[in-house]
Amino acid sequence: MIVTIDGVAASGKSSVSGGVARALGVPYVSSGLLYRAATGLGLEAAVDLHDAPALLSHLQSHPLRLEPLAAGNRVWQGGRELTGELHSTRVDRGVSVVAALPEVRAWVDAQLRALPSPFVAEGRDMGTNVFPRAGAKFYLTASPHIRAVRRAQERPEDVPAIEAALVRRDELDRVQSAPAPDAVVIDTGPLTLDGVIQTILAQLPAQLTSA
Ligand code: DC
Repeated sequence: MIVTIDGVAASGKSSVSGGVARALGVPYVSSGLLYRAATGLGLEAAVDLHDAPALLSHLQSHPLRLEPLAAGNRVWQGGRELTGELHSTRVDRGVSVVAALPEVRAWVDAQLRALPSPFVAEGRDMGTNVFPRAGAKFYLTASPHIRAVRRAQERPEDVPAIEAALVRRDELDRVQSAPAPDAVVIDTGPLTLDGVIQTILAQLPAQLTSA
C-alpha cells in the first residue's frame, strides 16, 4: 500500500511524512531528494542544468540510490553519500530548473516506481502522476506567511525575504504541484506538526493502519 503526501514548499511535508511513516511502521520516500541529488550531481560536473540530454546521460552513468528510511531519507552515488550537500542555496536555486525537465521527471518517476511498497511517498506529484492508484492521498497547504514564519524560527527579521522566496518557488513549482482530485487537502496553518500527523492517521482506511 502507498500513501501519498504532496504539498507546497515548506508546508512541513517531510516532517509529516516521517511521522505518518513511523506511526505506520513503514519507510517514507522523499521524491524531492532525488530531484536535489540530480541537481547536485549536475552542478558538480558543470553540466548545463537546462540541457536535459546532457544531464540525463550524466545521471545514467552515475546511478543514484535513494535509501528511504522512516528516520530520514539518504541518497547515495556509488559508495558516496550526497544527502548532506543537497540543501545548499546553489541546489535550492538549480532544482526548480531540473524539476521542470520532463526527461528528468520521467527518470525520477521510474526510480520511485521501482521501490518496494508499502511506503509513504512525499513530494509534489506523488498522488497525481507517480502513484495515481495510491491507497490514500493528502495535500498540505499553508499561507506563504505562515510557512515563512515556521522556516525563520527564531529569526523574525528573515520572514519577509523567506516569504518572497516561497512565493517565487510556488510559482516555479506550480505546474507539477496541483492536488489530485481525490486527495484530502489539509490547511496546516492552524495545526501543530503532531496535529497534522493525527489528522492524516485518522483519515487512513482501516486496512492501512492495521497493516
Ligand atoms: O521537497 P523539496 O523542497 O526537497 O523539493 C525540491 C524540489 O524538487 C522543489 O523545487 C520541487 C521539486 N519536486 C518536484 O518537482 N516534484 C516532486 N515530486 C518533488 C519535488
